Amino acid sequence: MSLFRLIILFLCFFLFQPQTVLAAAEYVGSNKCSECHLDLYSSWIVSGHRLQLRKAEMAQHSNLALPKGYSWEDISYVIGGVKVKAYFVDKNGYIITSAKDGSRDKTEYNLEDGSWSYYFSGEKKLYDCGFCHTTGYNSEGNQGGLEGIVGTWHEDGIGCEACHGPGSEHVENPAVRTLRRSRSKALCEKCHQRGGIDHRPLKDLGLVRHHEQINKLKEGPHKGLTCLNCHKPHQKASLTRYNCVICHSRANIGYEKSVHGKAGIKCIECHMARLPKPAIARASYVGKVRTHLFKISIDADVNMFKEIKEKGLKSTFTKGFVTVEFACLSCHKSQDKAWSIKHAKEFHKRHKSN
Ligand code: HEC
Ligand code: HEC
Ligand code: HEC
Ligand code: HEC
Ligand code: HEC
Ligand code: HEC
Ligand code: HEC
Ligand code: HEC
Repeated sequence: MSLFRLIILFLCFFLFQPQTVLAAAEYVGSNKCSECHLDLYSSWIVSGHRLQLRKAEMAQHSNLALPKGYSWEDISYVIGGVKVKAYFVDKNGYIITSAKDGSRDKTEYNLEDGSWSYYFSGEKKLYDCGFCHTTGYNSEGNQGGLEGIVGTWHEDGIGCEACHGPGSEHVENPAVRTLRRSRSKALCEKCHQRGGIDHRPLKDLGLVRHHEQINKLKEGPHKGLTCLNCHKPHQKASLTRYNCVICHSRANIGYEKSVHGKAGIKCIECHMARLPKPAIARASYVGKVRTHLFKISIDADVNMFKEIKEKGLKSTFTKGFVTVEFACLSCHKSQDKAWSIKHAKEFHKRHKSN
């Protein structure tokens, strides 16, 4: 082959590669996707993913109270405010950490009881949360030119394109596969972690912390499962709760006729106790977000936490299970650990023999 033909071949190869011919796909927003995927859009719109970050104009009609002295004109965004707690971002893009007049005050709003907690009290707090709370995040620049916001993004909250990638090419020509459609573990884990996916969950004020689902999953008996073994990516969490028996039919034998089964108590009430503490500790053994540890230990001497020395530093970690205080006493408030253990032992075997 002559050198000339080689060069021509070489040029053709580059010129006709689809990647080099097409312009990079752009973000079009979830509303655009609704035109053809209304079913998925309808389940996603009521899920937490959609509602994580909202402009003040969108959130001001909900029943949220504002930090002392503030009115809706002073607010640019509301963070959260759907399930557990809410924070407010001011017109310069900083998360509000004191009253409007600068005096010390609580600025984290707890949805459940309308109470307030301190949040980085008095500090200048950047909104540097976009990586996990927005779609098409880029760590350069400031969204809307607000100096307190780190980075820019294309859509508030976790839209369709946060998981599927920018959709302009797909919208123009759906028949050509241009979108990401991955069931890879990494997709969910990059946001639902704390300190990296290999970091073991730390103890925090007697309870453990939120947004570390993967860290907990890896400590417990479900370490071989992925998020998508249980969750549908477009649905809110509460639609997942009845799926345990698909894999655990044996534990389910006799359960429906048991005291708890008859009272309508689901598997997760004991196995996914509300353990971690994102905002308020409600009662001694009740946090707010459900744990992904699943296993219940009935050992009387066992403690849920262990101290480990790493590189000279001592830290207290959770082990891969919850103890009966968390699994039982959130409901049986007048009982104690010894009572719980007595009744928890061989919990499911007893149902089978009845
Ligand atoms: C004009 C209508 C239309 C719009 C708008 C649209 N889609 Fe689609 N989409 C389709 C059709 C039709 C298919 C099925 C294509 C096939 O299977 O050949 C599809 C398939 C998909 C798939 C599966 C792709 C695969 O490779 O299996 C995903 C994911 C998807 N769409 C996401 C989105 C997202 C995200 C948006 C918004 C950015 C969007 N779609 C907007 C029509 C549309
Ligand atoms: C949290 C991540 C995430 C978000 C947000 C998300 N998807 Fe998906 N989507 C997935 C995953 C993962 C799959 C693959 C599921 C599978 O193969 O079982 C998928 C599959 C799909 C499919 C293929 C058909 C199907 O039901 O499996 C379509 C179409 C689709 N998504 C559209 C959308 C649209 C439209 C939105 C926004 C309204 C959206 N997705 C938001 C993760 C997401
Ligand atoms: C871009 C970051 C990000 C990605 C990627 C992501 N999530 Fe989330 N997810 C969040 C945030 C932030 C929330 C909290 C939203 C809220 O409750 O206000 C959340 C909430 C949830 C919830 C509770 C929602 C509800 O309605 O109760 C479930 C379940 C969930 N995610 C599962 C998944 C799964 C499964 C995947 C992978 C397919 C995934 N997430 C990918 C950030 C992410
Ligand atoms: C590593 C990813 C990540 C980062 C960074 C992150 N979050 Fe989150 N956040 C999550 C996930 C995932 C959830 C939902 C799951 C959970 O709560 O366990 C969540 C939940 C929340 C909620 C509760 C939502 C509700 O409706 O009650 C609020 C509020 C929140 N985050 C605020 C923030 C703020 C403020 C920052 C920045 C200072 C931040 N987050 C940084 C991943 C993250
Ligand atoms: C063995 C099944 C299973 C696996 C695996 C699993 N989950 Fe869950 N998850 C559930 C169930 C059940 C609920 C509780 C639903 C409810 O409250 O009704 C839940 C709740 C949640 C919630 C909401 C917690 C709350 O109380 O607000 C988030 C967020 C979540 N899961 C994310 C994830 C992520 C991310 C992964 C992967 C790292 C994952 N889950 C793996 C079954 C599972
Ligand atoms: C996709 C299948 C699957 C689903 C869904 C599932 N599990 Fe599991 N579960 C497993 C596997 C696999 C193991 C580990 C093997 C074993 O010990 O049985 C396990 C182990 C367990 C264990 C520890 C068993 C032991 O002997 O110590 C408990 C407890 C448990 N699961 C509870 C639940 C609960 C509660 C749910 C519903 C929220 C659930 N699982 C949903 C597959 C599943
Ligand atoms: C979500 C709430 C809830 C949780 C969690 C819970 N229970 Fe119950 N339990 C009930 C209800 C409701 C009844 C039936 C009404 C009654 O008699 O109090 C009941 C009844 C009982 C009874 C028979 C009645 C009695 O008081 O002697 C025993 C024993 C019992 N539970 C033990 C446990 C043990 C052990 C655990 C933890 C492994 C546990 N329960 C977790 C709600 C709960
Ligand atoms: C009232 C609390 C409670 C409820 C509700 C509950 N469990 Fe359990 N479960 C326990 C306790 C306590 C143990 C540990 C028993 C032991 O170690 O002797 C256990 C053990 C298990 C195990 C380990 C293997 C075994 O059979 O001992 C599995 C799997 C399991 N549960 C699944 C389920 C499923 C599925 C449901 C719903 C149908 C469910 N559990 C409902 C308290 C509960």
